[in-house]
Amino acid sequence: MRVLGIETTCDETAAAVVEVDAAGKPHILSNEVLSQIAAHAAYGGVVPEIAARAHLEVMDRIVERALRTAGCELSDLSGIAAAAGPGLVGGVMVGLTTAKALALVAGKPFMAVNHLEAHALTARLTDEVAFPYLLLLVSGGHTQLLAVRGVGDYVRLGTTIDDAVGEAFDKVAKMLSLPYPGGPSVEREALQGDPEAFDFPRPMLGRAEPNFSLSGLKTAVRLAAERIAPLSDQAVRDLCASFQAAVVDVMVERTRVGLKAFRAEMCKPTCLVVAGGVAANIAIQRGLARLATEAGLRLVAPPLALCGDNGAMIAWAGLERLRIGLTDGLDAPPRPRWPLEARKPEAPSSSASSPPGETVLSP
Ligand code: KG4
Ligand code: ZN
Repeated sequence: MRVLGIETTCDETAAAVVEVDAAGKPHILSNEVLSQIAAHAAYGGVVPEIAARAHLEVMDRIVERALRTAGCELSDLSGIAAAAGPGLVGGVMVGLTTAKALALVAGKPFMAVNHLEAHALTARLTDEVAFPYLLLLVSGGHTQLLAVRGVGDYVRLGTTIDDAVGEAFDKVAKMLSLPYPGGPSVEREALQGDPEAFDFPRPMLGRAEPNFSLSGLKTAVRLAAERIAPLSDQAVRDLCASFQAAVVDVMVERTRVGLKAFRAEMCKPTCLVVAGGVAANIAIQRGLARLATEAGLRLVAPPLALCGDNGAMIAWAGLERLRIGLTDGLDAPPRPRWPLEARKPEAPSSSASSPPGETVLSP
């Protein structure tokens, strides 16, 4: 099976071809990503209108390149997938419409992929991990702990009650006048900073539910920066290192609690997986690796190229769906908001509860 995947939910225009061979082994045949960082850098964040236009300008070239590098034609594909959300709707419509048009012309099945599901399933593309596993999904828009039980079968164990972790990195970078995108900038500065220079809070530590809160930490960084302004280069490095150290502590402790919740509700996970743009952060990966060792689990983190948004993860999620018969009509809508809305099994007393363990991908 061979699937073309298209990604345009944020500021990367991406297309890729992924296949599984006769032995069931996955291969990335091409993975073309064109980042719009330069177009948005002056604004310190993604400008939706600029993003949509930029996707449109390069979409056909990126798809052509992905097919050429993979050495295949549309007729060689088993199906075509696009991220239908969640994300910036203008961009989503560019990728979604392109994929639908290609599927229609080539007479191939079409899969409308949830961007979060694509991050969630990437570990099965790179490391062929088996269900069920515990996933820490950390990106610019999401911070969640999920039990991944199967394709389309997710139980959300915890989430952020305010900012996403990538968003916190981006906002801290902005307040310290570091270049966009903020995550890599903060990580770079932190390398030469003292993680103990500032004693920042570790929000939610010790809470029984594996939820997150990042906004208080971000505010603490702002207050500290204001207190010692004007900032020397070393002060910026120390602020970054201390902020990152707090984030690592929070991620590790919250994931430890998530692991407990996972075990209480199901069984031992096959492994611990981290995914999403923030998964590229080495300090977070190291912290999670320590936790995994302590729990007797393997940590699976995507290679750098597959942490951030890319087409291979969309193609792979499309392939995973196609091979169990989950395809979509050409009327599949763009979904600016599309949570991997799997519910933690509700208490029996709740009137809105579904049967324990039943989970859905709902709009
Ligand atoms: O998954 P992604 O590429 O896009 C979304 O779906 O949001 O994640 C982007 C986020 C941004 O907030 C970016 O600053 C953050 O991931 N990020 C990082 C690192 N690299 C990217 N955060 C911390 N450390 C990094 N090395
Ligand atoms: Zn993403």
